[in-house]
Amino acid sequence: MKRYFLVTGIILLTAFGFTRLRPGKKVNEPYCKNELPGEKGLRDYYKNYFPIGVAIAPRDLKGDEASLIISQFNSITPENAMKMGVIHPEENRYNWKDADQIVDFAQQHHIGVRGHNLCWHAQAPRWMFRDSAGNLVSKEVLLQRLKEHITTVVNRYKGKLYAWDVVNEAIADDSAQFYRNSLWYKICGDEFIAKAFEYAHAADPKAVLFYNDYNTEVPAKRQKIYTMLKKLLAEGVPVNGIGLQGHWSVNNPSKEALEKSIELFSSLGLQVQITELDVSVYGGHQGGQLVSSGFHRDTASAFTPEMEQQQLEKYKMIFDVLRKYKKQITGVTFWNLSDRYSWLDGRGRKNYPLLFDKNLQPKKAYWAVVDF
Ligand code: XIL
Repeated sequence: MKRYFLVTGIILLTAFGFTRLRPGKKVNEPYCKNELPGEKGLRDYYKNYFPIGVAIAPRDLKGDEASLIISQFNSITPENAMKMGVIHPEENRYNWKDADQIVDFAQQHHIGVRGHNLCWHAQAPRWMFRDSAGNLVSKEVLLQRLKEHITTVVNRYKGKLYAWDVVNEAIADDSAQFYRNSLWYKICGDEFIAKAFEYAHAADPKAVLFYNDYNTEVPAKRQKIYTMLKKLLAEGVPVNGIGLQGHWSVNNPSKEALEKSIELFSSLGLQVQITELDVSVYGGHQGGQLVSSGFHRDTASAFTPEMEQQQLEKYKMIFDVLRKYKKQITGVTFWNLSDRYSWLDGRGRKNYPLLFDKNLQPKKAYWAVVDF
């Protein structure tokens, strides 16, 4: 009899302990540091909402990082491998190695791929804009090169990618300017934007085509993006969606600002995706290539309990809003896999912007995001 009670007691205790460690617990409950995400991945929690993606590099395709990708995500974006400078370093040479490796991995594991990106002012090769004497080329030459680039890249992955970020960051942050004063704009005016979408659509009529940008919750920039998209749609340009990059932080954006952006852009009949989500533990705007000055490199910066709490609250708010707008939102992609490496680390101090920690364990914010 005594033995019976002992065994039952052990079973009950184990079961209780187990349920306390399962996802679904309240976010302020104690958290076990070695907790594994379990059988379910983010993509399973969100299967009735939208695919969940992650931006990756070829180095992530092996070991524990590959296992985490396979168990958690159903979409991937090459972080750099398809950018013009990487994939088309010289006029007559394409470099398919990294991009092919990522696409092969995705196919092998039945994971969707978002292409990123076809036309951007950053990470564009110098040769694209210049002739052999080093002078800027004419608009006709530049558009012809853009056409050749887009047609070749989109064709290679046709049927293997479900979406493309076609034009990235063409709108200016500066309130005195509408379009970003990039070499694309200086040489072609705004025509390169419509052309890029037309070339991409001609090469793969089935791919969903996105305009992608950051600071999309800043009212003045949001309005400019809206105006541009409305004009493109009125002209019959094949743009299907808007990518809100989502380089957010513990104090930005507000719930109201995020809801406003989703409502405004989807009122144009466009799909909305969050394409580059991370929540910086330092306040302010993190978007784009803007590298904040004044920070000294301090790789030892700690992830404090205050940061942890603020970050999980921001993540919870963001995902509450995204679920509320599930009809408008067709995908959410994180920009990098875990706090082991984030592109934001390159901004002068270590950041902790993702849902998995340096040991690839789910953070409290992870449980906040799947607890609904
Ligand atoms: C970043 C990559 O993560 C870095 O590795 C690279 O050095 C710079 O670009 N907006 C975008 C992304 O659209 O392509 C950028 O990716 C982050 C900002």
